[in-house]
Amino acid sequence: MNSPTYAALGVLLVAAVCSLRSLRRRQRTELYDDADAVLLNLRLPQSRWFNMGYWTAGTAADDFPSAAAELCRRVAQAARLKAHERVCEVGYGSGDSALLFAREFEPRSYVGYTSLAGQHQLAARRAVEAKLATEGFELRRGDAARDLATLPAGSQDVVLAVDCAYHFNTRASFLDGAHHALAPLGRIALTDLLIPVSDLSFVDHFLLRALFHLAKAPWQNFLTTSAYRDHLVQAGFDRDSIEMQDISDDVWPGFCRFMRERDQQAGRSTILGSAWRGLSMYTKVVVWYSGARGGKRRLHFYLISARKADLSTRG
Ligand SMILES: C[S@@+](CC[C@H](N)C(=O)[O-])C[C@H]1O[C@@H](n2cnc3c(N)ncnc32)[C@H](O)[C@@H]1O
Repeated sequence: MNSPTYAALGVLLVAAVCSLRSLRRRQRTELYDDADAVLLNLRLPQSRWFNMGYWTAGTAADDFPSAAAELCRRVAQAARLKAHERVCEVGYGSGDSALLFAREFEPRSYVGYTSLAGQHQLAARRAVEAKLATEGFELRRGDAARDLATLPAGSQDVVLAVDCAYHFNTRASFLDGAHHALAPLGRIALTDLLIPVSDLSFVDHFLLRALFHLAKAPWQNFLTTSAYRDHLVQAGFDRDSIEMQDISDDVWPGFCRFMRERDQQAGRSTILGSAWRGLSMYTKVVVWYSGARGGKRRLHFYLISARKADLSTRG
C-alpha cells in the first residue's frame, strides 16, 4: 500500500475509536444529558430587550429584563416624561421600550422608528397582542438620522433614544431631526457612548476605531463631553438645559457580571448555541473598553438630556 492509503486508514481507525468511545460513554451514562433537559424546559422569553441595562442594588444579578427596563425608565426620567405627552422614540428594537412607555405613561401619541425589518415586524405583532396598535401609536421602520425630519415641525413633546444613538449616520443629523420635530421647550433624552477627555493612546484609539467600524458606528459620533455639549447646542438645544450624567458604573459592571454568571450556568455551546458565543466574545470587548474589571476605562456610558430653546423668548 502507498502512503496516502496508510494515512486514510489511519484517519478511519482514529474516527472508529472515537465513535466507539463516545458510544461507550453514552451507554455508560445512558442517553440523558442535562443540557438536553435544560433545552426541553426552556420557555421563550416574554421580552426582547437589547440594551445593557441599568443595574441598581435591588436588581437581581440574573435579571437582565429588569435592568434593561430600568435603563429605559431612566431615559424617560431624564426627559421628565409625563403622562399624555407626544412621544417620538428612535431605535425601539423589538418594541419593549415602546410597550413600556405606552403602559407607564399612556402617551397622547407615540411614533417610533427602528431600522431592522425583523425587529419592526416583531414589535408590531407584540403591539397588536398588547392591544396597543391604535391610531395614535405608530411603530415605523425607518432611519433615525433621516426620518425625523419628515415629521411635522414642532409635533413632539419628547424624543427618546435608548442605547442606540452612537449608531446613527450621523448623530448630528438625528439631533437636527429631533430639534425639528420637537415643539418649543420640547425635550430630548438618550443614552450614549462618549470618549474620555484624556487622550487615548495610539493603540486604544486604533482598536476603538476598528471596533466601531465593525459595529457600523461612525467614528465622528464619538465625542468628549464638551464636544457633545457643542453638538447639542449646534442642533439648537439650550446650552443651560443640558444635563450629562456618567452612568458607566451603573451599566457595565452589572451587565458584565450577568454575562459571566449566565456563561458559567449555561454557556456550554450545547445549551446556548453559537449566538451566545458571539455575545460572550463581545462581552470580552465590553470588559476591555469599559474597564469593568478594574482596567482602564476607554469609553463612558452617559445619560443625556436637553431642552429645545424657546426661540420666541429670544431678544
Ligand atoms: C442596542 S439596540 C437597543 C434596542 C432598544 N432601544 C432596547 O433598549 O432594547 C440598538 C437598536 O437601534 C437600532 N438602530 C440602529 N441604527 C438605527 C437607525 N439609524 N435608525 C433607527 N434605529 C436604529 C438597531 O436596529 C437596534 O434595534
